[in-house]
Amino acid sequence: MRVDVLTILPKLLEGPFSDSILKRAQEKGICEIHIHNIRQFSKDKHQSVDDYAFGGSAGMVMMLQPIVDCIESLTRERSYDEIIYVTPDGERLNQGMCNQLSLRQNIMIICGHYKGIDQRIRDHFVTKEISIGDYVLSGGELAAAVIVDSVIRLIPGVLNNETSALTDSFQDDLLAPPVYTRPAEFRGWKVPEVLTSGNFKAIEEWSMQQAVEKTLARRPDLLDKNENR
Ligand code: 6GU
Repeated sequence: MRVDVLTILPKLLEGPFSDSILKRAQEKGICEIHIHNIRQFSKDKHQSVDDYAFGGSAGMVMMLQPIVDCIESLTRERSYDEIIYVTPDGERLNQGMCNQLSLRQNIMIICGHYKGIDQRIRDHFVTKEISIGDYVLSGGELAAAVIVDSVIRLIPGVLNNETSALTDSFQDDLLAPPVYTRPAEFRGWKVPEVLTSGNFKAIEEWSMQQAVEKTLARRPDLLDKNENR
């Protein structure tokens, strides 16, 4: 997979992409992540990328020209399966969308700032608009990092067996059960006996029961979804 991220704050994205699982995925050649600084495409003598909104509403809007030139410099080289705009008024991200995006070859992600980007970019280039939740971030960069992380970890070969994505919360619409490691007792706090029993069937049943109980208590909406299948 190739991911191209368009931003005016490239430094905000360099950190998340250059460590841990995303770093390893790139080193293994499973994915390429390219960050593009929109400001470098500005033709304005002050290199500005935003302007006042038509109609007099408060706040600045990101201009068409630098973003369009950046998009077209990329679409000239290859075709994109999705051109994503990250925005609080987009479709809310969930595990199903991450699974789908992980099957794509080339995706582009546009990060907005201020009051957003000129609507004509959304009308003429963007194929998908994604929000990462019902709250507002200062810009799209952190949302883009969330999307890239949640998608790339799903590509086969990125995670090893122990960190397999198949047992994650949400992958089966259940929250993950509690986990423990050594020591089996600490300050008198004991690990549930079943986990040290060696009885794998009992362990699996216990884990499933814990997952269902936790989901019922915290996210009953996920269980409703199960019933609808
Ligand atoms: Cl994608 N962008 C911004 N600025 N805020 C958000 C968001 C995105 N998703 C949730 N809040």
